[in-house]
Amino acid sequence: MSHKSAAFLLFSFLGLFFSGAAFAQSGEATYKQVCVSCHGTGVLNAPKFGDKAKWAPLIAEGQVTLTAHAYFGVRAMPPKGGNPNLSIEGFSDALVYMVNNSGGNWKSPDAQTIAAINKEVEARRVGANKKR
Ligand code: HEC
Repeated sequence: MSHKSAAFLLFSFLGLFFSGAAFAQSGEATYKQVCVSCHGTGVLNAPKFGDKAKWAPLIAEGQVTLTAHAYFGVRAMPPKGGNPNLSIEGFSDALVYMVNNSGGNWKSPDAQTIAAINKEVEARRVGANKKR
């Protein structure tokens, strides 16, 4: 085996390893793993994937507010979508995927937006108040 093909194999393995290890998983993948069980069919009155009328007023709250409230948990929506290992970034991207398939047009949040979301989550935590 040449050095070149050995290196190619090594990089292929690294690629598999990182894609398999939930390394910057796509919003779509997170949605399908974590959110679809409730938002796919509208369990407990969860706003359904693709239901533009239901999502419009939520989208209107803005990305920072809506992401933070949902990540913190609101009424029947469990914190972090019920997955304690889900990061703000992973959660945000899953929400972007859901919003963009339900009438919105959001981008994956940049560092500044993530910081603003974190701040809002912290404010909720301090308030320890699930009502709006
Ligand atoms: C166990 C079921 C369940 C899972 C899993 C779940 N949700 Fe929800 N979600 C709900 C329910 C129920 C509501 C409606 C809450 C209400 O208004 O009472 C909701 C509401 C929301 C809202 C609107 C919050 C608001 O301010 O009204 C967002 C945004 C959201 N979910 C995002 C997500 C994302 C993103 C995921 C996956 C990472 C996720 N949810 C996973 C049940 C779930």
